[in-house]
Amino acid sequence: MHDLASAVVTGAFSYTGKYIAQRLLDRGVTVKTLTARPVSQDPFGGRVEAAPLDFSDLDALRRSMEGADVLFNTYWVRFGRGRTTFDRAVANSQALFEAAEKAGVGRIVHVSITNASAKSELPYFRGKGRVEDALKGCGVPYAIVRPTLVFGVDDVLLNNMAWALRRFPIFPIFGSGNYPVRPVFVEDLAALAVDAALQSESAVTDAVGPETFEFESLMRLLAASMGVRSAFVHTSPSLGLGLTKLIGLLVRDVVLIRDEVDGLMAGLLTSCAPPSGATKLSAWLQDNAAGLGRSYVPELRRNYRRPD
Ligand SMILES: NC(=O)c1ccc[n+]([C@@H]2O[C@H](COP(=O)([O-])OP(=O)(O)OC[C@H]3O[C@@H](n4cnc5c(N)ncnc54)[C@H](OP(=O)(O)O)[C@@H]3O)[C@@H](O)[C@H]2O)c1
Repeated sequence: MHDLASAVVTGAFSYTGKYIAQRLLDRGVTVKTLTARPVSQDPFGGRVEAAPLDFSDLDALRRSMEGADVLFNTYWVRFGRGRTTFDRAVANSQALFEAAEKAGVGRIVHVSITNASAKSELPYFRGKGRVEDALKGCGVPYAIVRPTLVFGVDDVLLNNMAWALRRFPIFPIFGSGNYPVRPVFVEDLAALAVDAALQSESAVTDAVGPETFEFESLMRLLAASMGVRSAFVHTSPSLGLGLTKLIGLLVRDVVLIRDEVDGLMAGLLTSCAPPSGATKLSAWLQDNAAGLGRSYVPELRRNYRRPD
């Protein structure tokens, strides 16, 4: 077991990185974040030092990690757009790992995704697989934590599904709707990541919750928890995506892309691994559904209007 005095977390002002950083602070660990976000978005009141996540300045990236026991990496992009591509995100991740190695970081905890594979036909999962392979080859002991769909306060995906359920009388279910999803609570994921930082062996662990849902049942549960009546209409993936594109025009965002639907329908957001945490989405919804989907969280404004 490792001693953990200082850590660098990418994205501590964003979603999963924030929960990892909070857990580290609670243990008395000194936390620095690498982020493109301004300090005005710091939820920690200055307790987390921030440095740029700037892949064009590898020396600065290395310097920003010097002295850290562990790097927690959450960096990834949801889809390619403009100069943001998966190839570039893979290269950026590799550069980050190399900079961490040069900085003498003792361990890298990397947040990946279930069923990541360099052989996947889906660019997101393929890119994540390539990053896993790069990490395994980089010479720093590692832990790869692979979550399914992550739920919790500040989540984007489930929140925006909830928003659509609240806003529209019909909700498209792609194909049969019986593909499995095994959501994991963001706090359980953070606990697993911090625990992984304390181990010495390199390891790959799926981060999965205790409940498995068929996608349609999950959407019905979400609607029922919010007290919303929605007509669930089975559509072909193409028609369903056409509908989400119309919604995208309304909210000026990319709501969902084909690859995400394909990954969902292929059952890639599940795993046979034992549960990583005890938190059930069904129980969490009882306390949190009232606040879910009250407003739409735009992916483009949140993550795609930044210097790269
Ligand atoms: N959310 C889920 O349901 C889910 C499910 C499975 C796996 N994962 C994995 O978990 C990790 C964290 O996901 P998250 O949802 O917590 O993400 P997030 O907090 O929104 O972002 C994580 C990091 O990636 C950076 N980032 C995000 N989009 C970017 C873009 N378009 N261009 C440049 N940088 C970008 C963020 O930069 P800033 O610090 O500047 O914000 C942050 O450092 C990812 O590796 C993801 O693949 C997430």
